[in-house]
Amino acid sequence: MIDSKTKLIGVIGKPIEHSMSPPMHNAAFLKNSLNYVYLAFGVEDLGGAIKSMLALNIRGYNVTIPYKTEVIAYLDQIEPVAKKIGAVNTIVNENNILKGYNTDYIGAIEALEEKIKIKDKKAIVLGAGGASRAICFGLLNKGAEVLILNRTVEKGMQLADELNQHWKNKASSMSVNEATIQLTKNYDILINTTSVGMHPKINQTPLEKKFLAKNLLVMDIIYNPLQTQFLKDAKNIGCKTISGLKMFVNQGAISFELFTGKKPPKEIMEKTVKDLLEQKI
Ligand code: ATR
Repeated sequence: MIDSKTKLIGVIGKPIEHSMSPPMHNAAFLKNSLNYVYLAFGVEDLGGAIKSMLALNIRGYNVTIPYKTEVIAYLDQIEPVAKKIGAVNTIVNENNILKGYNTDYIGAIEALEEKIKIKDKKAIVLGAGGASRAICFGLLNKGAEVLILNRTVEKGMQLADELNQHWKNKASSMSVNEATIQLTKNYDILINTTSVGMHPKINQTPLEKKFLAKNLLVMDIIYNPLQTQFLKDAKNIGCKTISGLKMFVNQGAISFELFTGKKPPKEIMEKTVKDLLEQKI
């Protein structure tokens, strides 16, 4: 029951109406009998939203688009990898000290490591935005080599240059062209970090089927729909695949532990989101 001891957690972003974080976390609180509640806040005034954590003793926030980078300036401490990535998706209020973390990249890496050992593998990452950045850092940190394929080639090159400042010669970038067809055969992992194929444009795919090779472990970070066209194509030619739901649940589970100090009930978290996406709830 919500009472005067209930602790508040929220997700801040804009727009926020479609976030799956509130049902996922509330289901987990219920399952573990924790006196917490999780709400979604559509935020215009980011500074004001952060200050209210102190004024109202809000225990934690998840941070989503478009604030993952901007929010850093408002926090007291940033976990070192989140600082390198330049993005925070989780804030914990520890006795009025606001600490920032990035659980997105760990969520993605954990999802991959359930299927493959990342060290010394060759990975292709589609896209060069914030999500790509986090995942590239995670992959390189685990000892992989990374090739970034991006629509705007210069942006891909810039990201690769920056990554090479930390991991010399381990990152590169190029445009998607016919040469990619040969290339994918020599790679182990392929990850889509772009929004191409996301609901409602579910027939789009970030990389045509002819570019795929069956040796690849293919992951999409999109979870709505659960099976993107990209994953369907990959499955169809015999690739192992990982849906974006895994990364979403993993990042949420790590945040849950940071907020509550308790072990996350991952199964119920995954089932809640899956059922909602399949409209069973
Ligand atoms: P996020 O922070 O969620 O990763 P983002 O910073 O907007 O989002 O990045 C989105 C990435 O998806 C970019 O790399 C973008 O390519 P550009 O750098 O060329 O803009 C890529 N992207 C988005 N829509 C795309 C599309 N229709 N086709 C190809 N790439 C697309």
